[in-house]
Amino acid sequence: MANRWARVGALAMALWCAAAAWGQARVPPAPIPLPPMGWATWNSFGNQFNERTIQAEAQAMVRNGMRAAGYRYVHLDEGWWQGQRDAAGNIVVNRRQWPGGIAQVAQYLHHLGLKAGIYTDAGSFGCGTYSPDSGPGTPGTGSLGHYDQDFLQFARWGFDYVKVDWCGGDRPNLDPATQYAAIARAIRRAEAITGRKLFFSICEWGRQSPWTWAPGVGGITADMWRTSGDISAPIVASIPAESNRWVSLRNVYRNFAAGIHPEAQHTGYYNDLDMMVLGMRGMSLQADRVHMSLWAIAGAPLMEGADLTRLTPAEAAILTNRDAVAIDQDPLGLQAVEVSAPGPGLEVWAKPLAESGRRAVLLLNRGNEPAAIRVPWLELGLQNATRVHAVWRGKNLGPQTFGFTATVPARDALLLLIQGQPLPDAATTCQPDARPIPGEEPGTVRFAGIAGPIAHAWVSVIYRNDDPQTAILRLQVNANEATKVAFPPTAGAARSVWLEAQLGRAKGNVLRFTPLGTGHVDLQAVRIRRW
Ligand code: GLA
Repeated sequence: MANRWARVGALAMALWCAAAAWGQARVPPAPIPLPPMGWATWNSFGNQFNERTIQAEAQAMVRNGMRAAGYRYVHLDEGWWQGQRDAAGNIVVNRRQWPGGIAQVAQYLHHLGLKAGIYTDAGSFGCGTYSPDSGPGTPGTGSLGHYDQDFLQFARWGFDYVKVDWCGGDRPNLDPATQYAAIARAIRRAEAITGRKLFFSICEWGRQSPWTWAPGVGGITADMWRTSGDISAPIVASIPAESNRWVSLRNVYRNFAAGIHPEAQHTGYYNDLDMMVLGMRGMSLQADRVHMSLWAIAGAPLMEGADLTRLTPAEAAILTNRDAVAIDQDPLGLQAVEVSAPGPGLEVWAKPLAESGRRAVLLLNRGNEPAAIRVPWLELGLQNATRVHAVWRGKNLGPQTFGFTATVPARDALLLLIQGQPLPDAATTCQPDARPIPGEEPGTVRFAGIAGPIAHAWVSVIYRNDDPQTAILRLQVNANEATKVAFPPTAGAARSVWLEAQLGRAKGNVLRFTPLGTGHVDLQAVRIRRW
């Protein structure tokens, strides 16, 4: 194995070092699963929903332009099942709630060109057992002891997405990394049997740092993991006790801040900041724009939680804004990093986009007074800018010299799309050090010698994967916490995947890739971009 890596690697190196010498040829990014977009029952219906609710919301999603803008999933959160099983352990649903059966719900959504999501828990009980929010508790709504049976059932019913909560795993102190890996393997077995993909949504609320273990857990090639608690408890219109609840922008900021782990987010693995509360009680249109800007710049899953049948056209327009959605769904799949904090409550966030020299930039004012915020082009890794587009105003602002300054109103955000000339790469390394490393798995490849005190670096890895399946490698940067990177098939061509690494060693940074036994990949070059 080690020899094969070294041999193929050395051959390919020669080619890519030459390519670098020709002038930094841009290698197209590999196609990766993008953050899911859709709608979920929980925020507006708690556990009070049925077949008619799902049909009405799905129709609203088509009518209000969300489907056309790319929103696809309709997710049935806790409340779709009351925990009953038959003698063989199969899930039994309530016929009054689902007169046509649950498979028909998935079918209905597919007919509308949508996709279907479903909820369970990694333990024996869902969260509603312990803290029923909208109605009586429902013990037994978890999958522990039934992983293979339940995930196969979800796929056979036609679901495309499964959210797995953690209340039932938390109480008996189970280890989330172990349980979610077992679930991921059950999902992969269900996919192999049915041919239906289930997008894996992990809901452990960030308690045990899922960004360190959730990317690619159990060998899964795309997943997302919650990084914090709920933005808000559900606000169900039909429940008087909930009528005095409202959502606050402060909680939206809190979940955004807790959800930034850019080193873990790449190639189909996503930090999940929670279902959105855009348009819910307590949110103004200005707050809605800030919310959408934060989720877009974070490249977060966009799962709206308001009752879509009551969404105003102005609110729907924010959710479906073409530029904001495109920023979220950029094919590199990266998160923003904070490039500066020019004053109390003032933040500048930037996200590199797939098109060369293109950045999404957010000037955020969390304070109570308007403030001038400045961002120099150099801080964005740009030599200059030729176009500055204000997303919410839909207007080109015209480039300024050396940087951009704008006054941002109190509790508001300016979302910009900036096109410019990128700074040259900070470094390109074409020579993996493939010598066997004592104590490490055979096949470990180190890219050494990238020197420089660069705090945040966007890294592109050029590779080939001629197998039909995605390869997953463990990545360790210096002594930082390890993560995983997925390398999708490239069908004979070279492709790039992008990630964020915290470098900083002047004498040479080491990126160490170790195969995890899933597929095979030839790493050819690593390019470091400077911020
Ligand atoms: C937890 C999750 C929520 C929702 C509820 C359901 O609180 O964080 O997103 O799924 O459980 O009970």
